This record gives sequence, structure tokens and C-alpha cells, in this order.
Amino acid sequence: MPENTLTVVDNRTNKTYTLPVENGTIRAMDLRQIKTGPEDFGLMTYDPAFMNTASCKSSITFIDGERGILRYRGYNIEELAENCTFLQVAYLLLFGELPDDKQSKEWVKQITHHTMLHETTKEFMTRFRYDAHPMGVLASTVAALSTVYPEAKKVRDRDTRMHQIIRLIAKVPTIAAYSYRHSLGFPYVYPDNDLSYPENFMNMLWKMVEPKYVANPVLARALDILFILHADHEQNCSANTMRCAGSSEADPYLAVAAACAALSGPLHGGANEAVLTMLAEIGNKDNVPAYIKRTKEGHGKLMGFGHRVYKNYDPRARIIKHIADQVFQVTGKNPKLEIALELERIALEDEYFISRKLYPNVDFYSGIIYQAMGFKPEMFTVLFAIPRVAGWLAQWNELMEDKEQKISRPRQVYVGQELRKIDTSRFSVVKAMSR
Ligand code: ACO
Repeated sequence: MPENTLTVVDNRTNKTYTLPVENGTIRAMDLRQIKTGPEDFGLMTYDPAFMNTASCKSSITFIDGERGILRYRGYNIEELAENCTFLQVAYLLLFGELPDDKQSKEWVKQITHHTMLHETTKEFMTRFRYDAHPMGVLASTVAALSTVYPEAKKVRDRDTRMHQIIRLIAKVPTIAAYSYRHSLGFPYVYPDNDLSYPENFMNMLWKMVEPKYVANPVLARALDILFILHADHEQNCSANTMRCAGSSEADPYLAVAAACAALSGPLHGGANEAVLTMLAEIGNKDNVPAYIKRTKEGHGKLMGFGHRVYKNYDPRARIIKHIADQVFQVTGKNPKLEIALELERIALEDEYFISRKLYPNVDFYSGIIYQAMGFKPEMFTVLFAIPRVAGWLAQWNELMEDKEQKISRPRQVYVGQELRKIDTSRFSVVKAMSR
């Protein structure tokens, strides 16, 4: 029997099948040959929530959840956070290599020169209600960009794709900042091409009457590192949505809007906002044990805890804790930090959390930093989305180049009614159409 094969005996028929094993996987389609008879559709796998199904081959991001490792294109996240800017990392995700100085200069220039929104898009944004959630505004406005750039539909054309990728990475911070200004009733601030990516974002958020916005360098670097940490995370819920929508050859603006929707939920990118709500509900350090007890009794989850893949520690959470110290030296400590630290301390000693391998994830501390910087909790998920756009686009671009991929279309196990007839005695019947 050749190595790297799996032998399956079907006890229903006593037949034996040999399936190739490649990269630790068997092909689900190889199971289809396993049938009880000619009428049988063939064996499928049943995997709600994709707990154990690889949907693609990817060379972008590597995660070892047991060992708490995250790498982009082979580089450890710690090293990237230490040495790179977010735009260099975005380039790495998209093109596979870090840019040299010349490539970096050109890349930054390209992004910087695409940050403006079309005036009609700006006006479109003014029509949202004053209290519209910024994540809804972001998803809707990114979708609206599809109407501004109809050529984006040529998704099989590499140059067209690259043009939209640059536009999206450049314009999403502008949309995010406008959504923030809109919620405060402040006039929108145009991008400033003299500033770096994070500084320009801060300019569009916080510039008031001063002629030139000057960003605090510690806060700008902290924001840039937070962007690096959030840039990609392989096949998570929103990346999978991006790939699924993209697989129908939807244009990238609409596919990114779909990914934004997936990110917005509290079990995914919405968790950072939910953490702040939870910390506010706990109120002070003394209430932590009672809150944890309630969680263990099944009343809600500890937001910012747990991860589908990390079962040791989320390496991003460790870096974020370090950034928090630097940010708090500028902004003063966020009083919520004390509650968060106590929550982490007690949870990490508790059998319930230990046995389930539940540790703080990236969202546990990010919100506390964002709040200290002056962001409202409703903005937190938008801050996650800005860098993740680069990851989504890298995933989408890889999908478009992957010859094995087709339109995404899972199977189902139908458990509904067998064929039946309408009981017309129960309601008045619409007049039959003449044939
Ligand atoms: N608090 C308390 N209990 C939890 C938590 C939590 N945060 N997370 C999981 N559990 C428990 C579950 O109730 C379950 O217990 P059981 O075995 O007694 O039924 C067990 O741990 C396993 O949890 P699952 O829900 O099966 O784990 P899954 O991999 O499906 O979920 C998820 C992962 C969604 C992240 C989950 O841990 C969660 O909801 N966490 C809170 C929300 C959060 O922080 N999300 C952000 C994730 S990171 C990101 O997307 C950027």
C-alpha cells in the first residue's frame, strides 16, 4: 500500500477504498466514490462551522494555534510589529515579499494618491442618520464605491485588480474617518498627502481648526502596529466571506462590504466593542469574581476571551499589552485596564477557562487602548476593518489566481419534509392559471 494514503472500509458494503493524503488532508471529492449503490449520491463530510475543513491552499498567513504562532508570509508577527510599517506589511501580504526602499516609496506614493473620495461618495455619506453605527456606514459606503468604479468588475484582469486594491487600502481610512466625523456632526477633513498612513488617518479624525495636523508620534506608531497585528488572520469568518463572495466574481468593493458585515458581529471583529460594554457593566474590580461566576453558569461569554484556533495564547494580545503601556504614558491610564487585568488574572487561574483553553484574544486589550486614544467604542471594529482590508484583498487576489478554485458552494444534509401535497381545504386557493 503506498504511503500517504488512507484506507477506508465501508462497513455498509464491505468495500475498501484507498484515498491519497496530501498536506495532511484527504480530498472531500474522493469520498464521493464511496456509495452503497448506483442510486446513492456518494459520501460527503458534515462539518458545520468548518471546524475541520480546509477550503483553500494559501501561502499568506500561518497560524499554529497550539504554540501561539502567527506569521505573515513566513515572518513572525513580533518581528514585523517591531520593524515594519503597516503599509510595508500590506505590501508583503499582497506580493509575498517585503518591499525594498524603492518599492516602498512607490507603494506609499500610490496609496497616498488614492486616499480622496469622489465628492458624490462624500455626499452619500452625509445621508446617514447622525447616530448610524460606523461599521454599517463603512460597509455601505465601501459597497457604494462599486458604483463609482464599474471597471472593478473585470476581476480576472490582474492590472484592474491591483488598481482596486490600491484604491481600497487608500480610501477605507478616509471612509472610516468620515463616518466618525459624521457621528460627531463635524465637517469632514480631506486627506493630507504629507502625512504617513496612520498620521493621515488621525488627521482626518481629529483635525479641528489648526492649519496643519501634527500627530503624536507614539500614538501614530501604536496605531500602525495595531494595524499590523490586525492585517490578516488566514481563513477566519470575514476572510472566508471575502473569498466566498469573491468566488462568484463579485467586484472587490462588494466583496469587501460582505467581509465587513461578517467582521461586524460580536463573535468576530465586533468583540472589541463588546469587551468595553462588558467592562462598563462590571463597573469595578471587586465585581469581577461575580461576573466570572455568572459566565461559568452560562450567562453570556467573557468577551475578548477564546479563539477557534489559538488554544495557548493569542500572540497579538501579548504585543498589544506592550503597546498599551506606551500609549498610557501619553494618554494616562484607562481606568478599565484595572478591571481587565483582574479579569484576566482570575480567569487564567480558573479551571473552567483552563480546561477549555480560553485565553485573552486580540480584542481583549485593543479596545482599552483605542478608548484611551479617544475613540468611541462604536469605532473599534472599524479600526479592525481598516488594516484587515489588506488581508481580505490578499486572500481575494490569491483566490483569483488559484486554478483549483470555483464558485463557493457547500453541500447540505437535507433534514426537511419529504414530498407532500398542499391541503387546499385549509385556505382559499389562488385562481388557477389557464394552461
Ligand atoms: N467565555 C466563556 N466561555 C467560553 C468563551 C468565552 N469567551 N468562549 C468559549 N467558551 C466556552 C464555550 O461555552 C464552550 O463551552 P462548553 O464546551 O462547556 O460548551 C467552550 O468554551 C468551547 O467554545 P466554542 O464556542 O465551541 O468555541 P468556538 O471555537 O466555536 O468559538 C469564539 C470561538 C467565537 C471566539 C468564542 O470563544 C467566543 O465567542 N469568544 C468571545 C467573543 C470573542 O472574543 N470573539 C473574538 C474572537 S477573535 C477575532 O475574531 C478577532
